[in-house]
Amino acid sequence: MADNVPRSIQEALLWATERLAAAGCETPRLDAEILLCECAGVERAFLLGHGTECVPAEAWPRFQEWVARREKREPVAYITGHREFYGMDFAVTPAVLVPRPETEHLVDEVLALAQTRYRAAQTILIADAGTGSGAIAIALAAHLPHAQVCALDSSREALEVAWRNAHRHGVRDRMCLVQSDLLERLPWAVDILVANLPYVADEEWPTLAPEIRFHEPAQALRGGANGLDLIRRLLRQAPARLRPGGAVVLEIGAGHAAEAERLARAAFPGGHVRVGQDYAGLDRVVVVQTP
Ligand SMILES: C[S@@+](CC[C@H](N)C(=O)[O-])C[C@H]1O[C@@H](n2cnc3c(N)ncnc32)[C@H](O)[C@@H]1O
Repeated sequence: MADNVPRSIQEALLWATERLAAAGCETPRLDAEILLCECAGVERAFLLGHGTECVPAEAWPRFQEWVARREKREPVAYITGHREFYGMDFAVTPAVLVPRPETEHLVDEVLALAQTRYRAAQTILIADAGTGSGAIAIALAAHLPHAQVCALDSSREALEVAWRNAHRHGVRDRMCLVQSDLLERLPWAVDILVANLPYVADEEWPTLAPEIRFHEPAQALRGGANGLDLIRRLLRQAPARLRPGGAVVLEIGAGHAAEAERLARAAFPGGHVRVGQDYAGLDRVVVVQTP
């Protein structure tokens, strides 16, 4: 297809799908549809019903440019600049991890704890360590109108993205954003500590998709030799930063459940520790509840 001639939506999608499939993208048709929708400012349903119509002329150059970026395995969310998480739209840049659907399970766990352990109008103090785009912290602030949430990250660039997202979702006044090594600079003790910290082990790193290895920030993903360096350090810091009756909710990686559970029991000898599964049935979260 000549690069400067916009064709029908069907043809444009076929062209892009073939290029993305050849580049090794896992979901080439879906990616092509998302990129075209963003470029043309339409919903996906529109593409299905209007396949024979021309791609809007003004959308075509950008679509070509975006398909070329996706061919280099740049994540779709970095190209479009946003990603949905917990039914909310979050700005993302290459400074932050693209929020993953499995991380929504952490939000569910915290909301369940909040409902069972705190009265509806009670102020709950929450910390989200390694907040990245702020997805977890902001989803919690949005669903818990009486919560005060401190979002921490070692990356200033990530905190800037989180700040924008907090503003976008109208929760900025109940949040503080702090540049910190884990909990070092957490300003107050909290009721619930939640964290999705880097947990990719060194030997797993070379096996990850190019979207992750070459585009997402390594410091958002890599967790040392066996992947548990940051989780281990956080669990050492956590007891001193929890209020009485507090809880810790941590995302874990494949194969980490037994060791993470052991570390949690060592950090909280009097606490109740359990491992929870995500919707795919994989061990995904360690939850500690203190007396
Ligand atoms: C796996 S990402 C999670 C981002 C976000 N919470 C999410 O679930 O989409 C981990 C985050 O931890 C941050 N991080 C890495 N090391 C850290 C440290 N020592 N202290 C604080 N944050 C750290 C990274 O910058 C990154 O934003």
